[in-house]
Amino acid sequence: MPNVRFAPFDRTIECAEGVPILSAALSQGYFLRYGCKHGGCGTCKALVIEGDIEDSGSSFALTHADRSDGWTLLCSSQPLSDCVIDISAMGLTDEEFQAGDQVETFETMIERVTDLTPTICGVTLRLVNPPEMRFTAGQFVNVEVPGADGIRAFSMANAPSADSEIELIVRLFPGGRFGEYLKHAEKGQVIRVSGPVGSLRVRLSYRKIIMIAGGSGMAPLLSMLTDLTEKNDRRPVTVFFGARTCDELYYIDRLKALCSLSAHAEFVPVVQDAGDDWNGERGLVTDAIARRMHSLRGYDAYLCGPPPMVEAARALVIQLGVRDANAYFDAFVPTGVAPPSAPAAETSTARP
Ligand SMILES: Cc1cc2nc3c(=O)[nH]c(=O)nc-3n(C[C@H](O)[C@H](O)[C@H](O)COP(=O)(O)OP(=O)(O)OC[C@H]3O[C@@H](n4cnc5c(N)ncnc54)[C@H](O)[C@@H]3O)c2cc1C
Ligand code: FES
Repeated sequence: MPNVRFAPFDRTIECAEGVPILSAALSQGYFLRYGCKHGGCGTCKALVIEGDIEDSGSSFALTHADRSDGWTLLCSSQPLSDCVIDISAMGLTDEEFQAGDQVETFETMIERVTDLTPTICGVTLRLVNPPEMRFTAGQFVNVEVPGADGIRAFSMANAPSADSEIELIVRLFPGGRFGEYLKHAEKGQVIRVSGPVGSLRVRLSYRKIIMIAGGSGMAPLLSMLTDLTEKNDRRPVTVFFGARTCDELYYIDRLKALCSLSAHAEFVPVVQDAGDDWNGERGLVTDAIARRMHSLRGYDAYLCGPPPMVEAARALVIQLGVRDANAYFDAFVPTGVAPPSAPAAETSTARP
């Protein structure tokens, strides 16, 4: 059975065949940062210093360049030999690392389910036990869909100040278990969630901010925008929101109202197939960004939505001047099933 040693803490665990490194570490009483546990979010990224690892995480959570540089996703990797893995990038103290898994499970009750568009709904869950959840704007929870296998990741859309509820924005896929469940859900039904997890959050900086959302990807950005407004943060923010048709835009008044509270915030909805009565931006969200933002030097970028949108928007903002390290994103890679649009990469990472 291979051993995995974690730097810089100099602790070693045994990892049985078929068990991901993350699960082995959690079950042996150590804590590592994680999110979706499915190779989709990138929270559990760590650097392989020595040894061979097999990694099946998605290419959205870990780019090809990251893999070539030796990074791996601990939730979806297994050691092929004894290894040394540097987890410094998780920013844990020795105490946190040794404290074991602190992610809590919460019992919630459905408060409301609202149709926001023909394919997206808003869900409010009231926290019952424990009755409050502290989180950072941008994080997500793992939802246990009643009657379905596995867990699904959904980002909080509410700001952390509303800590007795969880507001979600959920895209409904044909045959998608959570969407099917929500169609018949009633107020008071119990749903278990665990969290908060994930590493997307507004970074402290003097840079301006560009936020780019597609579909239900507005959820974490709405949370972050509300939080920035509540904290009277004065950084200039431009929010681009892309939809295929006008019907697929939602929370427009809410977003406009948030942006109107700051002289430095601008909201730009962008519709791909708009009728003659639409007088806003048209085309793909990336077309509108390229038209309006000639340079993004000195910006932090926060991107969220379907993987192809995130990939295209990330490439564009970097081309326009955002530093690679300042482009933060959550790609909504499906967490309940094998990713259809982002084939899992089977990679073996070998370090000297
Ligand atoms: C970090 C993170 C945060 C996320 N946050 C959100 C969020 O806030 N809101 C949200 O709506 N989703 C979010 N997701 C995606 C979410 O976790 C689910 O995977 C997704 O909504 C599908 O769940 P389901 O139960 O409806 O479908 P499942 O029952 O898991 O899948 C059923 C069918 O739906 C299809 N399907 C599922 N997802 C997709 C997709 N993306 N594209 C095409 N077909 C698909 C599959 O082909 C499958 O056949 C997030 C994902 C990650 C990794
Ligand atoms: S927890 Fe590993 S990629 Fe999400």
